[in-house]
Amino acid sequence: MEGHGVLSERAWQDLPYDMRKYPFDQLMRTHLGVEALEDLHEYHNAPRLTSENEQATDLHRLLYKIGQEFYDVYTRFVADWVRPLFGEGLVYQSRPNFRFQLPGDVAVAEWHRDSDVGHHASETNIWIPLTTVNERNCVWLESAHGARDFKPAVVSVGSALIFKATDLLHGNVKNTSGRTRVSFEFRVIKASEYQDRDEVSVNLSKRFAVGDYFERMPASTASECRVDGTDLHRATSDTLQE
Ligand SMILES: [Fe+2]
Repeated sequence: MEGHGVLSERAWQDLPYDMRKYPFDQLMRTHLGVEALEDLHEYHNAPRLTSENEQATDLHRLLYKIGQEFYDVYTRFVADWVRPLFGEGLVYQSRPNFRFQLPGDVAVAEWHRDSDVGHHASETNIWIPLTTVNERNCVWLESAHGARDFKPAVVSVGSALIFKATDLLHGNVKNTSGRTRVSFEFRVIKASEYQDRDEVSVNLSKRFAVGDYFERMPASTASECRVDGTDLHRATSDTLQE
């Protein structure tokens, strides 16, 4: 199978990855020195999140200080796990966005589409939970552009949520679960659909251009048809939710 149609059947997908090869959650636990990221609120506080500070609290700054080992695993993940989904070279977000959703709050302040803030319509979002998430601390998405039928996208640790954040309204409900969510996400664009843009990311203050917000991941010479030995077509059809 060619991986070009990864989002052709559903608005979003949930695909498992090998946590031993890509131990994102373990690296974050080690970085923060906590055993369970779901309990992060017992060790760290943050002001209520607004459009202005939703990436700029002290706790965000701490998450972004995670070591190079994490970023090395991230780059390898984009090369070996994400790229085969698309069947060609990619442009990808050079540094992912880290987020948390503490009890009583949201992770992003406004319901929005990423296109509202200058993002490229060809972007696909890869959202990775580092905690067990539940209906109260996950991303909520509409099922189709303009449908406004928001539903929780509850995905397991060890899976990636894949969706088009430029197309679908998304946001959070207040986290009444008593458990913190920690996650990171990034955007990729097929190389064939990519163009530099003049707009600047409001969160990361980087221009949406290669060498700034984005980096290139050239096409691989390896087979693009399989992910970690798993047939992609079977993986996608077996793991769809909703
Ligand atoms: Fe967004």
